[in-house]
Amino acid sequence: TVSTMAADEEVVGSVKDQLAQLFEASLRITVPDQTDTEPLIAACNPRFGDYQCNNAMSLWTKIKGKGSTFKGPQPVGQAIMTNLPSSEMIDSCSIAGPGFVNVVLSTEWIAKSIQKMLIKGIETWSPKLRVKRAVVDFSSPNIAKEMHVGHLRSTIIGDTLARMLEFSNVEVLRRNHVGDWGTQFGMLIECLFEKFPNMEVVSDQAIGDLEAFYKASKQRFDSDPVFKERAQHAVVSLQGGEERYRKAWSKICEISRQGYERVYERLGIRLEEKGESFYNPYIPGVLEELNQKGLIEESEGARVIKIEGKSYPFIVVKSDGGFNYASTDLTALWYRLNEEKAEWMIYVTDVGQREHFEMLFTAAKRAGWLPPGDNSYPKASHVGFGLVLGEDGKRFRTRSTEVVRLVDLLDEAKSRCKAALVERGKGDEWTEEELEQTAEAVGYGAVKYADLKNNRLTNYTFNFDQMLNDKGNTAVYLLYAHARICSIIRKSGKDTEELKKTGTLVLAHSDERALGLHLLQFAEIVEEACTNLLPNVLCEYLYNLSEDFTRFYSNCQVVGSAEETSRLLLCEATAVVMRKCFHLLGIRPVYKI
Ligand code: ARG
Repeated sequence: TVSTMAADEEVVGSVKDQLAQLFEASLRITVPDQTDTEPLIAACNPRFGDYQCNNAMSLWTKIKGKGSTFKGPQPVGQAIMTNLPSSEMIDSCSIAGPGFVNVVLSTEWIAKSIQKMLIKGIETWSPKLRVKRAVVDFSSPNIAKEMHVGHLRSTIIGDTLARMLEFSNVEVLRRNHVGDWGTQFGMLIECLFEKFPNMEVVSDQAIGDLEAFYKASKQRFDSDPVFKERAQHAVVSLQGGEERYRKAWSKICEISRQGYERVYERLGIRLEEKGESFYNPYIPGVLEELNQKGLIEESEGARVIKIEGKSYPFIVVKSDGGFNYASTDLTALWYRLNEEKAEWMIYVTDVGQREHFEMLFTAAKRAGWLPPGDNSYPKASHVGFGLVLGEDGKRFRTRSTEVVRLVDLLDEAKSRCKAALVERGKGDEWTEEELEQTAEAVGYGAVKYADLKNNRLTNYTFNFDQMLNDKGNTAVYLLYAHARICSIIRKSGKDTEELKKTGTLVLAHSDERALGLHLLQFAEIVEEACTNLLPNVLCEYLYNLSEDFTRFYSNCQVVGSAEETSRLLLCEATAVVMRKCFHLLGIRPVYKI
């Protein structure tokens, strides 16, 4: 394993970045007075080259008629090309259409860059982002309620975003904004007191299924006015800090916490809990600041922030004087910005909460906490996602029409994978531990990948048969593809560490070059996935990479060929990049199948 990068200088940045630097230099010479022109670099149609610089056309519209000696966009492109500093990374350039500069990268440079990565580690390929510290607010279940598939999506997507940002040298505060505060605790506590008059002896098992407990409390609350009143009093006592109530509250939180921590552990996910209750003491001060800034008004007994273009206001103090989800989120945003000094605040929830976050961010902009627009930092982003659907196209539920329990899904994914392994004869070949570990890696990986590979905004259908298929765009297929590469290397009997130092990578065959170029594009893909907060971009890259590898492997003999050393290095580089993709997607790789 490679240690994490400390020094920024070691990071080379993406191919796009490196080309941008060259074109930047050329632009400064070509149009010296247009100093704010940023180079526009994009991948291009492979028939014309590998990359393209698209500045000529827009530059021309800016400079024409202003005494420029250029006669059109094409001569501008021509000049950009001529003024390009010489570099070992470029093999040749050509002009196309209205001044596009096509670039063919040097194949030798591609090979050298890959070999350097193999020696120095994949961390040298991490993208360079502008942000130093970010908060990713994800998972965030509600106390006393079971985590369901909606929270599963938030947990999986949030973890991947955090991993990608961390890989890009951003310090990430992984925040679990659990719903551990609010009026529902009144009824829960009253029910708890009723069932266990002597709180000290309440064991976790005695409370049992917290969700059932929640339902029973809710039913009492709705049907029994005397109980309802007691519950409302309990809220007041809890918020007033009365010890007996605080204790009951933290007992309930603790039991819930143990439940979801088991899920995080199984999924290999790390989170730091700062629940709604954490921000409670800061709310009055924050609302006071907003009040002084003139943002808060009275409306039907409540205190609200009116948001332009919305039919209803952002309620920050309810008519009964209580705080709510919005007051907590305003305060959490303030805290993250001012106390935690985060530059990017990312919230991962279902799209149903889009409106809430739009209002929150607008309020923060009006308060001057965030700059207007969305192109500068500090910045807040809502990462919305769609529903998980069942086979019937409706919201995913079990037969009993209850919401699906997360743990049951993970159990089933694992046991299905284990059965498949046993069916393939691994039961005799492997130890029980190997079987278990592989079944977990593949099973949980499949659940995560099936979620991440879709654009997060679309609803997706949860289907075990599909996600556990070993063909097509699934984690099973990809994990096996990686394991197969590992076995090619193993069977060659060569020591890869030795090869990296003494061998030379040569990309002579067109399929070798295509694979090499694809490997090299890893950094810009991670950068794109981070900037647009879209994990599916990385999944698509990974799947295409495995296809490029398959093409290479079926057309280029590896073991026993004259090019064996070079091709083994290419296999190794592919395995390294695939492993990093798995890692960023929160999937544990397997090495044999
Ligand atoms: N607990 C909320 C829910 O289950 C999600 C919280 C998301 N984070 C936030 N800062 N609002 O819907």
